[in-house]
Amino acid sequence: ASPGGIGVDPLRMVAKEMKFLTGNIRQLLGSGHPSLDTVAKYYTQGEGKHVRPMIVLLMSRATALTPKSPRYNNQQGSADIDNPISPISILTDVNPSSPSTNPLAHSQTSYLVTDSDILPSQRRLAEIAELIHTASLLHDDVIDHSVSRRGNPSANLEFGNKMAVLAGDFLLSRASVALARLRDAEVTELLATVIANLVEGEFMQLKNTVRDEKNPVWTEETITYYLQKTYLKSASLISKSCRAAALLGGSDVATVDAAYLYGKNLGLAFQLVDDMLDYTISEKELGKPAGADLELGLATAPLLFAWKNNRELGSLVGRKFAEEGDVLRARTLVFQSDGLEQTRALAEEYVNKAIAAISAFPESEAKDGLVEMATMTLKRRK
Ligand code: FPP
Ligand code: MG
Ligand code: MG
Repeated sequence: ASPGGIGVDPLRMVAKEMKFLTGNIRQLLGSGHPSLDTVAKYYTQGEGKHVRPMIVLLMSRATALTPKSPRYNNQQGSADIDNPISPISILTDVNPSSPSTNPLAHSQTSYLVTDSDILPSQRRLAEIAELIHTASLLHDDVIDHSVSRRGNPSANLEFGNKMAVLAGDFLLSRASVALARLRDAEVTELLATVIANLVEGEFMQLKNTVRDEKNPVWTEETITYYLQKTYLKSASLISKSCRAAALLGGSDVATVDAAYLYGKNLGLAFQLVDDMLDYTISEKELGKPAGADLELGLATAPLLFAWKNNRELGSLVGRKFAEEGDVLRARTLVFQSDGLEQTRALAEEYVNKAIAAISAFPESEAKDGLVEMATMTLKRRK
């Protein structure tokens, strides 16, 4: 049983919307160039968990009954999401204002009229969040020289680095166009900032965690730096998407802030668990290489906690586990320490903060779903 109630299935509550998610995303990614079309849609085929869209949709429902901002006119601004984004840019951009020249332009996005309390703009936001996430995965797998993703060969392995990077850029562009069509400047600013945050987080990760590489010492700042990096790389997208969902629904400031805090704490917990699973779960179960972080020279939470009580890890961190036997030695020291337990405990703290953030929301199935999503974060194995 979970705090959200017995047998709460978050997916069931937004199943109607989730059913159209992949189809709509693939429609946003249509290109007249056949190989670009293939690479761009490649990561939409596999078994993605779709965590971000699910949270956006649940947040949209859970905030539907919260107080509205006095600024909200209930008109959805002038959101223009039913006019499909031209799927054939290379042919039709000759005259971009004339979508009628595009044979696919009138194939409607699947936002069939439903009795749902989720707005079309919020459903589109869920797709945009997944698009930005998928773009970052295309780039991430190039940076990490990853060979598999979601149980399949990675895009960089299948199509090469150049096409994988360009496909990622293409996804960002289509996400940006879809975002612009929401006609909400604040939401646009939030999601545009997310893209910068992802790059900032990745840069923080590329730089060493330690100030003096010749003499790496553990300080409290080691953890602060890691958490800042983790916010940017992993929690920014979820937190700002939650905020945007509440904004699109016209919620008042307190609700918008609560939505943001839920996403921030959940995102931090999510990445802490990710860093833990990299040590504890096999490649087969993960669907992507396991033990990858140390191989990439990355010191994540389990190791940073272990390092606090074992100075030997400092020299390994300083040379990014690059010498023969370093990776195995670091792994062994982490398993001998309480680093994994500490990581789990910190993740649990963030999960509790996420749940507390939305405690003032009116009771609803969607709220239970959000609580369950947070609780499940600690239990997941992939
Ligand atoms: C996965 O991390 C990667 C991210 C969450 C973000 C990566 C960000 C970039 C590559 C910057 C470029 C961003 C955009 C928007 C194009 P991971 O490598 O720890 O996880 P993994 O095990 O799933 O590979
Ligand atoms: Mg990676
Ligand atoms: Mg990475």
